[in-house]
Amino acid sequence: SNGKFVKIVEVSPRDGLQNEKTIVPTETKVELIRRLADTGVPVIEAGSFVSPKWVPQMGDTPQVVTQMPVHASISYPVLVPNMRGLEGLQKLLANYADGSKGAPPTDEIAIFTAASESFCKANTNCSIAESLDRLHEVTSKAKAAGLKVRGYVSVVAGCPYEGKVDAEAVGRVSKALHEMGCYEVSLGDTIGAGTPSVMEAVLNASVRQSGQGPEYFAAHCHDTMNTGLANVLHMVRLGVRTVDSAVGGLGGCPYSPGATGNIDTESVVFALHNEGYQTGADLDKLVDVGAWINGQIGRTNASSAGRAVLAQ
Ligand code: HMG
Ligand code: MG
Repeated sequence: SNGKFVKIVEVSPRDGLQNEKTIVPTETKVELIRRLADTGVPVIEAGSFVSPKWVPQMGDTPQVVTQMPVHASISYPVLVPNMRGLEGLQKLLANYADGSKGAPPTDEIAIFTAASESFCKANTNCSIAESLDRLHEVTSKAKAAGLKVRGYVSVVAGCPYEGKVDAEAVGRVSKALHEMGCYEVSLGDTIGAGTPSVMEAVLNASVRQSGQGPEYFAAHCHDTMNTGLANVLHMVRLGVRTVDSAVGGLGGCPYSPGATGNIDTESVVFALHNEGYQTGADLDKLVDVGAWINGQIGRTNASSAGRAVLAQ
């Protein structure tokens, strides 16, 4: 493997849009995914099979994944919170079984839980233990059906309801997700409260407790306090080789009041390339997509790297 390659997981169609109050038209989401596919990012998180009562913005994910163009070299994971979500996805994928509709839109799900009880309850209406039980079943059934499973731990560096989160609590959840069969665990600083040493402690506890190296973890940093890029670069120096980010700094979690978007892909790619890493992504193309989607949803472009490149 190429130790200087960092895999970008572009989460804007899901994490970036899920918190938008006005429903973004399905065709805009499809067009976003189409444009992202042309930037060279290897993974595009396409949507969520969650309850539309909880996250109305993701209610059209079945239509989005059916309409989006699919490239063989790109993965398009979708969030799945429970068996109901997995069954919905599998029903959709069954339409592709005979090959007449082309390649299935995705072969990967992302499951999610949290390191604090209050956030787990607010986000998925259950305790951490209950959520791990649910996800255990989801993961084993998904893997039996040939789907890859990525895991998320939320609130690794702070909880909007409980404040400080113990790194060892994150480590326990990371271990559980790896043991149930996730190929990668994404460490989510949901509220963007982390700083490099906090993220390092979280990674160390996760690596130690799970017995998996840093290359089996991803950095998922929201940028509320402007520490997102510092955290990402620190995690990469510690051996993490996957970074979740969103063009234009889009995003926020509906159950994390005040938290802002994901770290913008433009600044991540700019910084990684200048630090000698490869991502396969084209900065200028990312900048254009970030400006375009912010224009579509009427937001100011939160990517300072994006704004700077456009002004040059
Ligand atoms: P619940 O209310 O306890 O579940 O929600 P329920 O089984 O009682 O179902 C309630 C209703 O939703 C029912 O409909 C179900 O059928 C339906 P009704 O009978 O009332 O008409 N329902 C579903 N519909 C579609 N798809 C489904 C589904 N499940 C139930 N899968 C539940 C429990 C987990 C479903 C809910 O809490 C939920 O959907 N939560 C998801 C919240 C979410 O998506 N949050 C954002 C993503 S996570 C995130 O952003 C963090 C991350 O970025 C990392 C980070 O930054 O930290 C990943
Ligand atoms: Mg997130």
